[in-house]
Amino acid sequence: MIRVLFVCLGNICRSPTAEGIFRDMVQREGLSELIETDSCGTGSWHIGKPPDSRARSEATRRGIVLEDLRGRAIDPDDFTTFDYILAMDKQNLADLQRMCPAPYLDKLHLFLKFSTEDGRIEVPDPYYGGPTGFSDVFDLVTAGAEGLLGHIRYHHPNIDR
Ligand code: 4NP
Repeated sequence: MIRVLFVCLGNICRSPTAEGIFRDMVQREGLSELIETDSCGTGSWHIGKPPDSRARSEATRRGIVLEDLRGRAIDPDDFTTFDYILAMDKQNLADLQRMCPAPYLDKLHLFLKFSTEDGRIEVPDPYYGGPTGFSDVFDLVTAGAEGLLGHIRYHHPNIDR
């Protein structure tokens, strides 16, 4: 089993969007028994809350379900449990690096380093921005999720055999 954790600040906009998109790809590829997905925030304001209504609307428009997801904060056990711990922006990564025990630091990555599209390395926080922010997040995260699945398939060639 490969375990993937998406991390942003609030766990109500970017990381649940990433979880929902990647989970859908994994399901469609028939890999749900082999790749586990989750998301969390470095902050704890939104524990137990569903994703932001703007993130849910954008996801619904694109055929992705986020309704079952609930906010949680990063837990020290996450650094041992998960194989890929993927930060949406550099601040999220810096916060994770401060919390993470040294032996697990190589599990931490900027999510968009796996993206199939060059250029952007951060998923910008859409929380205080305009309505186009959520559509941009969805596009960036889709390219990141495609690249991540390609990376996992390449590095774990026996995953679906
Ligand atoms: P997220 O967006 O990190 O993508 O979930 C945010 C959501 C809430 C807040 C900040 C960012 N907040 O400050 O409450």
